[in-house]
Amino acid sequence: MKKIVLGISGGIAAYKSAELVRALVKRGDDVRVVMTKNAAEFITPLTMQTLSRNPVHTETFPHPSDYSLNHIALAEFAELLVIAPATANVIAKLANGIADDLLTTVALATEAPILLCPAMNDKMLAKPIVQENITKLVNRGIIVMDTAFGELACKSYGSGRMAEIEDIIERISAIFTPQDLQGTVVLVSAGPTREAIDPVRFISNHSTGKMGFAVAKAAQQRGARVILVSGPTNTQAPRGVTLVPVSSALEMRLAILEHFPSATIVVKSAAVADYRPQAIAKNKIKKNEGTLNIVLERNPDILAELGAQKGQRILIGFAMETEDLLINAQKKLLEKNLDIIVANSLCEDGAGFAVDTNIAKIITAKGTIEELPLMSKFDLAHIILDQAVRIRSLQQTC
Ligand code: CTP
Repeated sequence: MKKIVLGISGGIAAYKSAELVRALVKRGDDVRVVMTKNAAEFITPLTMQTLSRNPVHTETFPHPSDYSLNHIALAEFAELLVIAPATANVIAKLANGIADDLLTTVALATEAPILLCPAMNDKMLAKPIVQENITKLVNRGIIVMDTAFGELACKSYGSGRMAEIEDIIERISAIFTPQDLQGTVVLVSAGPTREAIDPVRFISNHSTGKMGFAVAKAAQQRGARVILVSGPTNTQAPRGVTLVPVSSALEMRLAILEHFPSATIVVKSAAVADYRPQAIAKNKIKKNEGTLNIVLERNPDILAELGAQKGQRILIGFAMETEDLLINAQKKLLEKNLDIIVANSLCEDGAGFAVDTNIAKIITAKGTIEELPLMSKFDLAHIILDQAVRIRSLQQTC
């Protein structure tokens, strides 16, 4: 739970701040809303009070005077000050140290990080003075989110829409996440592979890439440069991650080997097909009476190949099993020369393909086994990375 002061200034995007408050409260944050007079023209303080479950602050000198409503108390309460939307006017005031209302006074008084989410007409945003003010604030350590492109309230199209709430929440999480992977390159593989039979058919599996994409997102939040080699999926690649799309196991191998030399931590969560058709038919195979036999040949085991040349890298594999989970996972850990294997059973509810949760056991080469309860794949990703960071710091002290 974080203590967040949400400042709302007077732009049409103020109505979206209601959703932002809801999302923060849902995360478990303690949210105090500060609104400018103009913001209260767009959305009522009562709405924000109801959603934040706290009184809303609009006056620098409220009556009757109450210390808990004072601008200094709010500035000290904040672990983060988010200003969404931030109008050109508020941006200009902050850039010049003007504190002429409660919001700008709290901004000037707080020592907490400040996240600005600008929102304005595209032509206003493009004005050199607005850009100069934003640059000035960025240079002083204020975090400024990019605006989104799209239809603006004034009916024109352009850049100036406030960032999506989901993206703002993601940035807030990143601000509170320790940057313990800064300076590292994390190479992640995800998704299924597709092994072509003919121009229209392939062999694949049910992997959706959710686990690998969660690892990529978590690593990126912790400051790593992330390269995500993924088979075909419908999962959205996290912002800021370098996505390398591949299709077959052979393509995945080539992409992984290309990026392996620069990687510090490698997480292989892809469900790689162990076999591929020996020959890919040039034309569509037409049906005939009787059965059709397709001869399959082995695909290379990419992870085993990496294990044989891992050097100081931390190598993490996954084992998805339907029987003898621990024994099979430990065997893979040893045979593929891994530091960590994440074992998950396909037979448990809430684990496996296409769900956002997982139930896993994290087994290390040192012999430790951490049995985890049902949790989101994103939370599991962070726990896996915690282990990787621990192993890396042990390596560095040895
Ligand atoms: N893996 C790989 N290349 C392959 C097969 C698997 O890199 N050709 C990796 C997976 O990404 C995963 C780990 O090896 O991290 C274990 O994969 P899994 O499919 O559970 O096991 P296999 O080693 O293929 O063994 P089996 O299919 O016999 O269970």
